[in-house]
Amino acid sequence: MDSTTWYVTASVTFVGMFVTAVLFRSLRTRRCNSCVLLHGKTCIVTGANTGIGLQTALELAKRHARVIMACRDPNKARIAIEYIQSRTKNGSLVFKPLDLASHVSVKEFCKDILEEEHTLNVLVNNAGVMGHPYQLSEDGIEMHMAVNHFSVFLLTNMLLSKLKESSPSRIVFVSSALHKRGEIDFENVKGKQTKAYANSKLANVYFARELHERLAGSKVDVFTVHPGMVDTELARYSMSKWLWTLLYPLRLLLIKTASQGCQTVVHCAISEELEGKSGGYFGACVQEPWPEVSSCKETQLKMWKTSKEITGL
Ligand SMILES: NC(=O)c1ccc[n+]([C@@H]2O[C@H](COP(=O)([O-])OP(=O)(O)OC[C@H]3O[C@@H](n4cnc5c(N)ncnc54)[C@H](OP(=O)(O)O)[C@@H]3O)[C@@H](O)[C@H]2O)c1
Repeated sequence: MDSTTWYVTASVTFVGMFVTAVLFRSLRTRRCNSCVLLHGKTCIVTGANTGIGLQTALELAKRHARVIMACRDPNKARIAIEYIQSRTKNGSLVFKPLDLASHVSVKEFCKDILEEEHTLNVLVNNAGVMGHPYQLSEDGIEMHMAVNHFSVFLLTNMLLSKLKESSPSRIVFVSSALHKRGEIDFENVKGKQTKAYANSKLANVYFARELHERLAGSKVDVFTVHPGMVDTELARYSMSKWLWTLLYPLRLLLIKTASQGCQTVVHCAISEELEGKSGGYFGACVQEPWPEVSSCKETQLKMWKTSKEITGL
């Protein structure tokens, strides 16, 4: 075999193996196969302009839900709505401004929902930040704890009356398996901290578990999802754009696309088989046992009390 033939054969074999690996991974990803139709149902997705939130909104819109896109940037929200409409022809997509780095914004958003919306059937708490440089929110809270936990606490509690009125309804928390590395330092819960992302996700998991217990008998189901590693903009603060682009082949091979990554979120938001089965922790569309770290009732209660004090709920 001459060297040209050898290079051609090696390249074709490499590309073939790469494509097969990507296809294999894609086929192995579990998808939400619920055929339920959501006519007349209203769903809120926070951070619906990109990543997992955008794909979740698309899946809900495909099933004819009225989707409220709760985003902080009107321009990005408009582009996202156009993207979804071009794929679904769903005209019931509404942008409502929400900045989770501001309690004032959260309160205005909730006031609008409570006054303007007749029903609220699904709340997907998806928006989040990771690797954000140290910064305090408008309310003087470290950004991860502010966006990923305290504002989610405030928003969800403020919308509970509407969710109860519209029951059966659901609340889905988009958490992360990284919450297992978190620790709650109650002495410094608003301040600068190492592992701020993991800590904020752990705080959020405690909130989800306590909320589920408090909602017992209400027909408002609470689910927590860890989506796995997903190819989104989440690494925007921790990795330069050119490195991210350079890693594209690896990303393609090793991590889920946003469309694959949203499937467990959508499963928890709509699947009929989960009706009334509140309180679970889900990955790959399957319920998993709660990790040990998030199973301390005392910390769970303390987190609720602290969150209430800090948000002034
Ligand atoms: N990707 C993963 O591998 C992975 C793994 C585990 C868990 N998660 C979780 O999945 C969720 C979605 O993340 P993603 O991966 O889809 O990331 P993403 O592409 O960065 O999307 C994050 C979304 O949150 C929004 N957001 C950020 N700060 C906000 C604020 N202050 N107020 C309102 N919205 C805000 C962003 O809006 P802008 O576009 O305007 O910034 C964006 O829409 C997050 O909670 C994340 O922790 C992701």
